[in-house]
Amino acid sequence: MRLVLGIESSCDETAAALVSLGADGARTILAQRIASQDEEHRPYGGVVPEIAARAHVERVMPLVAATLGDAGLGLADVDAIAATAGPGLIGGVMVGLVSAKALAMAGDKPLIAINHLEGHALSPRLADPALEFPYLLLLASGGHCQLLRVEGVGQYRRLATTIDDALGEAFDKTAKILGLGYPGGPAVERLAATGNARAVPLPRPLLGSADPNFSFAGLKSAVLRAKDALVRAVAGTDGAGGASTSSARAALGKTNSPSPAQPELVEGSHAPLAPYTHADIAASFQQAAIDCVIDRTRRALEAAGEVTALVVAGGVAANQAIRAALEGLAAEQGLRFVAPPMALCTDNAAMIAWAGLERLGQGDFAPDSLDFAARPRWPLDPDAAPVRGAGVKA
Ligand code: KG4
Ligand code: ZN
Repeated sequence: MRLVLGIESSCDETAAALVSLGADGARTILAQRIASQDEEHRPYGGVVPEIAARAHVERVMPLVAATLGDAGLGLADVDAIAATAGPGLIGGVMVGLVSAKALAMAGDKPLIAINHLEGHALSPRLADPALEFPYLLLLASGGHCQLLRVEGVGQYRRLATTIDDALGEAFDKTAKILGLGYPGGPAVERLAATGNARAVPLPRPLLGSADPNFSFAGLKSAVLRAKDALVRAVAGTDGAGGASTSSARAALGKTNSPSPAQPELVEGSHAPLAPYTHADIAASFQQAAIDCVIDRTRRALEAAGEVTALVVAGGVAANQAIRAALEGLAAEQGLRFVAPPMALCTDNAAMIAWAGLERLGQGDFAPDSLDFAARPRWPLDPDAAPVRGAGVKA
């Protein structure tokens, strides 16, 4: 049996986990702890890098000690220490990586510097030992939206990426526009479940285009315009209102808590009726995003060649509607569909420990140097051709 301690600190979760791989291939999460920083960042409506880095400093070592304690183990029991070494918010990455280096030095253990994206990319194999390479992976998180042919540990062929915003970013911005606060993805999903996905016409950027790349910036701008139009309609400053019901107005008041900067939309007995609700915007946005994801993934499957499964990972993979749509696509293509459990989709240290175990199991494994420098950017496929777009980030 091999045992790896994993540390994650690339964004707003500080996390530690102990994962083992048995001689029979059994994968076990012996212990894991996650300290979320949601409360610290909520007042700002997004992650503040400096606050995140300080919170990681305070939490990482106590979290590691508690995780070892939960499993009744000590540092001497682990075979290696794996930590996220990038990409991500560099201050946080450095905190986790330096902590791992200190533990590796103190315990005389190998250090394994993990690409956070590789953690996401391999996480489905932690949950599903039957998942074999190569598989087509949709990796959708707050910072990335990529389609990758995962061919082996350390072997990734990027078939597509976003030419502007990541999908999780689009969810987070939609949440902000609708006054749903932070973190945005789960809030948009909850509200979307109560809305009409056909109520607000929104664009599907790049739908049908020959390459499988993504674009979400235009969708986000359209959500903003839809929200502005709603505000104007409710305030009676244009003629867009009128086609709605009182329940639509009630939904505005009941399902949303407008941020302080926003006008109270439902005050006043003579306000015109709204053409649609916040929930309708959320549902229409989510449906537009799903239509893009399915069209682009179908195109990538055409380009991918033979694969064993269609797999989704990353924070956005926690979205049930997106999972269901991908499952439908996999069934249509006669492919297995694999999605890790929700807790393994959003950032966690078990996936980092697991990526460490995958690396450790390779014939040519060599520990990383204690000089390994944290990387703010670290593409999984360094050979991928750069994409052209308005604001390429990935
Ligand atoms: O993988 P992750 O935890 O962190 C990054 O590496 O970015 O992903 C976080 C992203 C956020 O943008 C968040 O809004 C999104 O995943 N997310 C969701 C859901 N849960 C998390 N997006 C849509 N629906 C969800 N249920
Ligand atoms: Zn992530």
